[in-house]
Amino acid sequence: MIAKRSKSVQIGSLTLANPVMPASGAFGPEMHEVMDFNELGALVPKSITKDPRPGNKTPRVCETSGGMINSIGIQSKGLPYYIEHVLPEYGTYRAPLISSISADSIEEFCEMSEILGSHKDVDAIELNISCPNLKGDGLAFGMDADVTYDLMKRVRKVTDVPLIAKLTPNVTSIQDIAIAAEKGGADALTVANTLLAMSIDINT
Ligand SMILES: Cc1cc2nc3c(=O)[nH]c(=O)nc-3n(C[C@H](O)[C@H](O)[C@H](O)COP(=O)(O)O)c2cc1C
Repeated sequence: MIAKRSKSVQIGSLTLANPVMPASGAFGPEMHEVMDFNELGALVPKSITKDPRPGNKTPRVCETSGGMINSIGIQSKGLPYYIEHVLPEYGTYRAPLISSISADSIEEFCEMSEILGSHKDVDAIELNISCPNLKGDGLAFGMDADVTYDLMKRVRKVTDVPLIAKLTPNVTSIQDIAIAAEKGGADALTVANTLLAMSIDINT
């Protein structure tokens, strides 16, 4: 007889029934029409920003011979809308909710994490550190190990919920960034956000 093995996963203090969870931005609430959300290990909505953002101009996706390129620019209705409309909708499911957040500065990451970390429907926070540090050098937070450490350390101080650092693959040594995130207080890592890409038609 084959023993049934547990598929459960531990992320800090949070236990997931299984390790399957959607990638932020590639999965919306309308997906409940094609699958049972309660079968998932966790739900991860699209990244939210503090203030509303229009995102990039269309077209935002481009099909290529090697796959798909996207440039959405984190379209967001802002944190108050998210709290009022998005969280209650996701909160109706049994699967834990991991809020994905993007911010322009470490202060903004802290502010959002403190608010979301104290919300009853938020079980963990995924920090999208692949977005640009506009108060710093404009590079993604997750491109610099020191910035990543500082960011995680400061967010860790404002909330007790499990923290996941979503790394950018657009670095020379992702190991250094991963170690910095862990030392700063990340309970888990998401590996990884989208690769920078360009599509060139060599005939035209
Ligand atoms: C249309 C689209 C929107 C995305 N939006 C977000 C987002 O809001 N936040 C985020 O952290 N990642 C976002 N991503 C990145 C995905 O969550 C994922 O990390 C990426 O597609 C790489 O996953 P893969 O290696 O399985 O392809 C987006 C990706 C796509 C294709």
